[in-house]
Amino acid sequence: MEKKVSLNTRAVHAGDRKRTGSYVPVTTPIHTAVSYFYNDIADLDRVFENTMPGQSYARYGNPTNAALEELVASLEGGAGSLACASGMAAINMAITTALIDRRRVVVAHKELYGATIGMLTKVLNLSGVETVSVDFCDEAAVAAALAEHRPGALLMETITNPLLRVAPLDKIAAMAREVGAQLIVDNTFATPMVVRPMELDASFVVHSLTKYLSGHGDVMGGVVVTDALNLDPLRTLSKTLGPVLGPFEAYLSMRGIKSFPVRMERQCANACRIATWLAAHPAVERVYFPADPKHPDAAHIKRLFAPNLWGAMVSIEVKGADRERIFRLMNALEMIVPATSLGDVQSMMLYPAISSHRDLSPKHRARLGIQDNLVRLSVGIEAVEDIIADLERALGA
Ligand SMILES: Cc1ncc(COP(=O)(O)O)c(C=O)c1O
Repeated sequence: MEKKVSLNTRAVHAGDRKRTGSYVPVTTPIHTAVSYFYNDIADLDRVFENTMPGQSYARYGNPTNAALEELVASLEGGAGSLACASGMAAINMAITTALIDRRRVVVAHKELYGATIGMLTKVLNLSGVETVSVDFCDEAAVAAALAEHRPGALLMETITNPLLRVAPLDKIAAMAREVGAQLIVDNTFATPMVVRPMELDASFVVHSLTKYLSGHGDVMGGVVVTDALNLDPLRTLSKTLGPVLGPFEAYLSMRGIKSFPVRMERQCANACRIATWLAAHPAVERVYFPADPKHPDAAHIKRLFAPNLWGAMVSIEVKGADRERIFRLMNALEMIVPATSLGDVQSMMLYPAISSHRDLSPKHRARLGIQDNLVRLSVGIEAVEDIIADLERALGA
């Protein structure tokens, strides 16, 4: 900008809004601009009208988010996706979109992340969404619920939190199609490395991006992947409700995802070794891990999971432990981080009774089988011997 223009004006405009040349940045930049303009205002009109691809206003999208959305849709095998500000925002967007023009009834797996149960029973119920809680591992119970309640949507997690149950996703997807309901699958625990629900005919896949996909404990985000039928309604709703992810988080998520397959492979292999070691430990009452041949859902796991990958979450019941004993165990950890969240490069241990399932009554937790002696381990990429040494020390505390 020419010097004769006032410094006040140059401070606002100089250097900005350069036309890009023929170069292409090797990685996607962080696009922070809230609004976009074109050589011809008619083009902006076309973009708003959806007859020309492009950007207009950041609540509607931005190039960094668009790149992340293409990436996640590609990993999950969907027609497209929407990046959201958290996993919870993604779940809300999937349910709201799935129920457009459908009966406002959700048949939900009885085992879900605590906040998801809270969203259904304490928030969405206020806007007339009825939730019917069913054991999705019981196919006959799902069929009966579909016949009786004629839901608009079904909601489940591929691997449940924290008991790591695996429902027959493929069969449930077929049942949902038959009654014209849309299946929403939270694939946060399994990730597309282990199971790809869209390929099994789910209508929506949601993720807490915060977890394995971003993988470094520095992003809060979520994503909804869907099919061609639901993509436009999802985007239209998002323009009004505004649950969007910020471009900095979108950038960090893309950066994280580049190493996600390599991390996940290591995490799964570590988890498998650790689950075997824990099963033989005298202080451990019970190990929950999908590779266990005696797992109640072993047949579904064999059919649905990628070969030799069972996820990287391990839950254990500690023999005779009460709350104080679990606190002692977690305080004795030296490397494993005793904090909320999962899927990060570092191993983390969580006590569901005081965190993920805190808002459920003790009775509700007991009904789900979440005992006060249960802890959940998210296995990281560290050397497996070091994770085992830390567990050995803590279990002896
Ligand atoms: C399975 C599952 N889904 C969704 C969420 C919510 O994700 P976020 O914390 O990113 O909102 C979580 C969070 O722990 C989760 O474990």
